[in-house]
Amino acid sequence: LTVVPSVRLHAGARMPQLGLGVYLVPAARTRALVGSAVSIGYRLIDTAAMYRNERGVGQAVTEAGLRRDDVFVTTKLNNDAHGYDAALRAFEHSRSELGLDYVDLYLIHWPLPHLNRYVDTWRALIKLRADGVVRSIGVSNFEPAQLDRLRDETGVTPAVNQVELHPHRIRQRLRAYHAAHDIVTEAWGPLDRGAALRAGPVIALAEKYGKTPAQIVLRWHLQLGNVVIPKTATPARLRENFEVFDFELDADDVDAVSALGATRD
Ligand SMILES: NC(=O)c1ccc[n+]([C@@H]2O[C@H](COP(=O)([O-])OP(=O)(O)OC[C@H]3O[C@@H](n4cnc5c(N)ncnc54)[C@H](OP(=O)(O)O)[C@@H]3O)[C@@H](O)[C@H]2O)c1
Repeated sequence: LTVVPSVRLHAGARMPQLGLGVYLVPAARTRALVGSAVSIGYRLIDTAAMYRNERGVGQAVTEAGLRRDDVFVTTKLNNDAHGYDAALRAFEHSRSELGLDYVDLYLIHWPLPHLNRYVDTWRALIKLRADGVVRSIGVSNFEPAQLDRLRDETGVTPAVNQVELHPHRIRQRLRAYHAAHDIVTEAWGPLDRGAALRAGPVIALAEKYGKTPAQIVLRWHLQLGNVVIPKTATPARLRENFEVFDFELDADDVDAVSALGATRD
């Protein structure tokens, strides 16, 4: 079985660098899909209260019979649950849907700056971590100024920022900020929902390496140091997206993929 490399989160936990995202996986199909993923070797599953499939994720993880600390489960606080008390309640709901004693990573799904409540929400996540029901805490879709505010007002920096990142949006400045602050960059929409697989340079590299376009793009993410969570509801693609540890892109080829996003940060 392939063992996925992991990254170290600043609070000390380790997170697999490749996982399965389950956005738009119907609730009724989630348990079987996640079960297949785990049997292939996936050890990171990314869900959210918003996706309404936490229950299936939790069932599959529990049924897999792995040691609890051999699988890494992320879920996210929904947009309607900002604020300290609401966030604590929302977490408890997610945890009971998942049926787990603890969640590995809990993220604020969106900052919603117009509400101006994300700092209070963050204080709730800090408490959840102190209580031991969440191992690591982070955010999603945050900009540097918002990350600065969390650190300056609470003293706690998110372990992870999960953001849209793919060859058409390479987030160079944000990744540099993350690196400077010991924040792991996690890429959502890593395949640009399929659009990245149709890019000419990606297709050319697939031919050069004898790999599929998806494998080229995922390899590019891994070599940038991103955690990456491609979604597929297609069983054959689960395996395809996992078989990315037996080759390496040359540095020039990494740059050729990055060049696709050079005009947009
Ligand atoms: N934090 C946030 O705000 C946020 C936002 C969006 C997503 N996310 C997370 O990131 C995960 C991934 O993002 P995403 O689902 O938006 O987009 P994505 O992973 O870039 O793309 C998923 C699409 O690509 C297709 N696909 C997957 N593997 C393929 C392959 N090997 N060959 C060809 N097509 C392939 C899938 O089709 P099939 O399923 O039909 O195979 C699906 O249509 C989500 O599931 C979710 O966990 C987070």
